Amino acid sequence: MNLPLHLISMVLLFILVSPAHTSDDMIVKTCEKCAAKTEIFNSTFCVSSLEASPIGQPTNLTAMAVVPMLEALDNATATASTIERMMAGGGFDGYGVACLRDCLQLYQDAADELADAVRAFLKGQFGTADVMVSAAMDAAVTCEQGFAERDGGGDHDDDDVWRSPLGRENYSLFELGEISLCIISMLSDGVSTAS
Ligand SMILES: *[C@@H]1O[C@H](CO)[C@@H](O)[C@H](O)[C@H]1NC(C)=O
Ligand SMILES: *[C@@H]1O[C@H](CO)[C@@H](O)[C@H](O)[C@H]1NC(C)=O
Ligand SMILES: *[C@@H]1O[C@H](CO)[C@@H](O)[C@H](O)[C@H]1NC(C)=O
Ligand SMILES: *[C@@H]1O[C@H](CO)[C@@H](O)[C@H](O)[C@H]1NC(C)=O
Repeated sequence: MNLPLHLISMVLLFILVSPAHTSDDMIVKTCEKCAAKTEIFNSTFCVSSLEASPIGQPTNLTAMAVVPMLEALDNATATASTIERMMAGGGFDGYGVACLRDCLQLYQDAADELADAVRAFLKGQFGTADVMVSAAMDAAVTCEQGFAERDGGGDHDDDDVWRSPLGRENYSLFELGEISLCIISMLSDGVSTAS
């Protein structure tokens, strides 16, 4: 875990008085509801991410929105370290190194944005949390685009297609973001008269 301690303790304080029983069924049902709304939503990934919560299994929607944000933050931070190792490893040419340098900045910014998202969310600022999570997801997409543009319009066969070394990381950040956004939107719908 690479999560900032102050953020963890904020969340733990928030979630401290949790009901004793956990609710796998609620997790599955929530993930299925989200999957029905968005085509790229991976329900299996959703269930396993929520069950692997670093702060105890979520028992309501509020906690269920925080967990994927924290996991995305943890993963963005870990991805930044992975990129630093790749750059130090020397297996990339000038173009690849330039892409990696951009991606490093993007994933570091994504981690900051996700920390902001958690803070905003805990204050009940769902709109801000939504914007911050979306910004973090965009960072992963922008990183992938950098690598993809190498082949732009070029004449090549499939073996030559330049692949990002960060596809798995992109997928995780993107899917964790989708889970957060879906659950934040459920909460927003539920409390729209109060906000
Ligand atoms: C959600 O559950 C947490 C414990 O898991 C609890 O602290 C919090 O008050 C609950 N929030 C709502 C809105 O029920
Ligand atoms: C969905 O997530 C699961 C678990 O992480 C993974 O094994 C599977 O490949 C994913 N499905 C797709 C279509 O990417
Ligand atoms: C986050 O990243 C770690 C390390 O790459 C990975 O093992 C883990 O499955 C990822 N978490 C999620 C929820 O995708
Ligand atoms: C990044 O992940 C998202 C979510 O799965 C996917 O839609 C997108 O195609 C991925 N980008 C690349 C370049 O793999």
